[in-house]
Amino acid sequence: MALGRGHWGSRFGFVLAAAGSAVGLGNLWKFPYITWENNGGAFVLVYLAAVALLGLPLMMGEILIGRRAQQSPVPAFEMLGSKRWTPVGWLGVAAGAVILSYYLVIAGWSLWSFAQCIGWSLHGYTAKEGAFTQFLSSGSIQLVLTAAFSIATALIVSRGISRGIEKATMVLMPVLLAILIYVLITALTMDGRDQALAAVFVPDFSQMTAEGFLEAMGQAFFSLSLGLGAMIVYGSYINKDESIFKSALWVVVLDTSVALMTCVTMFTIIFSIPELQNDLSGSSVGMLFITLPKMFYTQMPGGAVLGPAFFILVAFAALSSTISLGEVSTSLMIDRVGWSRPKATVVTAAVVFLGSTLSALSFGAVGSLSSIEVFANKQGVFATLDHLAANYMLPIGGLLTTLFVGWKLGRKSTIEELGLSRETVPFKIWLWILRVFAPMAVLYLLFNVFMGKDFS
Ligand code: PFF
Repeated sequence: MALGRGHWGSRFGFVLAAAGSAVGLGNLWKFPYITWENNGGAFVLVYLAAVALLGLPLMMGEILIGRRAQQSPVPAFEMLGSKRWTPVGWLGVAAGAVILSYYLVIAGWSLWSFAQCIGWSLHGYTAKEGAFTQFLSSGSIQLVLTAAFSIATALIVSRGISRGIEKATMVLMPVLLAILIYVLITALTMDGRDQALAAVFVPDFSQMTAEGFLEAMGQAFFSLSLGLGAMIVYGSYINKDESIFKSALWVVVLDTSVALMTCVTMFTIIFSIPELQNDLSGSSVGMLFITLPKMFYTQMPGGAVLGPAFFILVAFAALSSTISLGEVSTSLMIDRVGWSRPKATVVTAAVVFLGSTLSALSFGAVGSLSSIEVFANKQGVFATLDHLAANYMLPIGGLLTTLFVGWKLGRKSTIEELGLSRETVPFKIWLWILRVFAPMAVLYLLFNVFMGKDFS
């Protein structure tokens, strides 16, 4: 074991920190809105299949690499494979930096919503039509909020994988779940429930496109924090006697449950209050930041307490994700360049913040940043980077990682790291998913998207 490497202090340390990384804006903001965009049911089913068939096996693979190498991704690929594999690590570092740059912007909004909710709780709900759009297009507010979130992230990362993260997630995750369950139960008493459940759980494959399949797969990678090495880094702090399968399964189940609960909640509210559908067409980010506050203050008992509580939790969910994103590049600079942790953190934060400014100003503050359209229907720097990272960088990173674990890491070390004594049937299934099924699935989808295919 590498000298001086930290380890999770308790049995659930990894599960909670990794679930903290996985559960974030991807579940609370992105999943409901892309499910809405892709017309529900069939998309959700494809997403669940991607989580089970690609996400879980890859999560086990990433944890395995980290725990075996006891290193951050770039040196880990080099050590367990060869120099030829280091680009896979670098691709992950690049993906992590890109995601972090725009993720910080949305994370900053949770601080704003929290402050607004406090005001509404004290003085009554006064949200005006179009106020959110106005907020989005104010460059200075966007930059200040993004900077605030960057500093909070850097402060925590600079202290290392400390007991702080573990202790914090141990409190935050159960509270987040409790509040979500309360919000879900309240939402389910509303009129739109049946329509929402049908929209989320009854599949209609005539609505699916190749792009929709890719998006479901990209979302599975994004939501589970896979394909860029975050789980390699966190896995490198796991104790040798923990079961990789059980740890990965916990993280996957927690993350998917939160995504589904949030989605059902949002859809129920939307179908119950038809005017909200106009808010949604105006902005893809409306569900979390417009729909929910409106419901807290106009429909829910105890909304004045739940409003601020919910957004502080969104902020914490985002923070436990930004920390893991920041940790990918920071740990690399420490392991590779030999910088101290504080220095590595400051450099990461500064470079990423420069990137963040482009996204922060792409919601209307700067016209050219807001209108750029590299991918069809994805307008602005923010949407472009999100699409690029989630739908291309993560699947490609994930594909190469599956090939690495499946073909390059020897069977002996893999079996040993999984705590098995022989090649069991589940092991063989897992191995062949990584060797053949996962790479083919990713390649097939990427190919179809490039060919502009429509499966409907
Ligand atoms: N999984 C996070 C979410 O769903 O919000 C986003 C994320 C965090 C992606 C960390 C990748 C990562 F390494």
